[in-house]
Amino acid sequence: MEQRSQWGTRAGFILAAVGSAVGLGNIWRFPYVAYENGGGAFFIPYLFALLTAGIPILILEFTMGHKYRGSAPLSFFRLGGKKAEWLGWWAIFVSFVISTYYAVIIAWAMKYTVYSINQAWGDDTAGFLFGTVLKLGDTPGEAGGLVPGVALPLLLVWVIAFIILFAGVKKGIELANKIFIPTLVVIFLLVVIRAVTLDGAGLGLTAFFEPNFSQLSNPKVWVAAYGHIFFSLSIAFAIMITYSSYLPKKSDITNNAFITGFANSAFELLAGIGVFAALGFMAAQQGVAVSDVASAGVGLAFVVFPQIISEFPGMNGLFGVLFFLSLVLAGLTSLISICETYVAGFSEKFGISRNKAVAFGVGLAAVISFLFATNGGLYFLDVADYFINQFGIAAIGLIEVIAIAWFFKKLPLFEEHANAVSDIRLGAWWQICLKFVTPLVLGYMMFGLLKLNLLKQHTDGDGNIIGNYEGYKDSFILYCGWFVAAGVIILGFIFSALKWN
Ligand code: PHE
Ligand code: NA
Repeated sequence: MEQRSQWGTRAGFILAAVGSAVGLGNIWRFPYVAYENGGGAFFIPYLFALLTAGIPILILEFTMGHKYRGSAPLSFFRLGGKKAEWLGWWAIFVSFVISTYYAVIIAWAMKYTVYSINQAWGDDTAGFLFGTVLKLGDTPGEAGGLVPGVALPLLLVWVIAFIILFAGVKKGIELANKIFIPTLVVIFLLVVIRAVTLDGAGLGLTAFFEPNFSQLSNPKVWVAAYGHIFFSLSIAFAIMITYSSYLPKKSDITNNAFITGFANSAFELLAGIGVFAALGFMAAQQGVAVSDVASAGVGLAFVVFPQIISEFPGMNGLFGVLFFLSLVLAGLTSLISICETYVAGFSEKFGISRNKAVAFGVGLAAVISFLFATNGGLYFLDVADYFINQFGIAAIGLIEVIAIAWFFKKLPLFEEHANAVSDIRLGAWWQICLKFVTPLVLGYMMFGLLKLNLLKQHTDGDGNIIGNYEGYKDSFILYCGWFVAAGVIILGFIFSALKWN
């Protein structure tokens, strides 16, 4: 048996945890979620979710990893035997699925870094993305052929991931984060500073920060805050348990969790400012309202931002390169963390070396990821992401806190463990949040999500009911959505039934 890996320094661990947390979600998800859910007033539910669920669960997961010193399944096994182990596998398979398409988005960002140099997208940025780059097919649910223009950068993403993961925890993951994260911060600060000094930036910032307090009475806003915090902090994905299992015995837990949580939020706020300043600039250029250009996700990063870059008053190329490079760096450090969950899990379960686990686990993820580099790739990515996120996060988070707090009754033990090593002592608030507040909000959230999807009550932008998510046909939702969401649970049971080697 190899000796268990360890982080070299405290800063190395924090940078790796922040590297996992800070990802595409901060840049392309947070600004829009905040804007849509009350603007400036969103900070109230956001902070509430951060302090009652985000940081408490981060502390919980750091404590678990540090105490049981194992991958997520091994830590859960040590916590509660086979009855608990499957939860760790479930989280790992959710991470596995995410890694297969997260890599693809990084590949697009790489392409766009290069396209930025001379704004290769021309005037029709949407047509360029869907037609020229992704070569999107007409029928959602059909793969079509491989798109070499996406497949090649995707290969490069996996090569980088392989190099970092093969090099190990200290010499690979820690070193990569020590280089990537400070670089990311500098690059992104440049992007934001340039954005807020553009004409019309103020317009965007006003739209972003304007508080709409009446929205706070809408439960949807609170659910959005909780959902975002889970995704953004990479909790309930097995990631933070895995990373903290590499902490040396004498390591702070509570303070590290606060630092990670606040660093992620600071980055998010910065992204909100930068993105909306840039949107304000574009709205002013085109003489339209900010609400007409605001969007999230693929559309924001790969359709709207290219437009902004094209309209830039000088040094367009540089701004574009820095923006897409931020996406690449933020994405890579998150991808590494997702992959590490199953590298650790496979290697411990089957008693194989770390390198074998990288070769098999990450190799398999890489192969599967090429499905998303086909003509139908974007549709697959869209549905898989929707289902895996919606049901993965809320459900695993909910079951994790209920299992640990109520079923195995481990919170007092964990509190003692964390207090013994940490600068900050946990008070009663920590157990109250995990026992009551989080399960109640997550339970409500889960119920709403199930109802929405089972009754097919999704609406389009104008509020008309369109049935399934995005109006996709039933068969596609079934095999790409429900089967995947159920598949990761079934795989979880199968793997936990196998013997530890
Ligand atoms: N936390 C990352 C982000 O904000 C997303 C992520 C989720 C990364 C799950 C890994 C696993 O983008
Ligand atoms: Na994040």
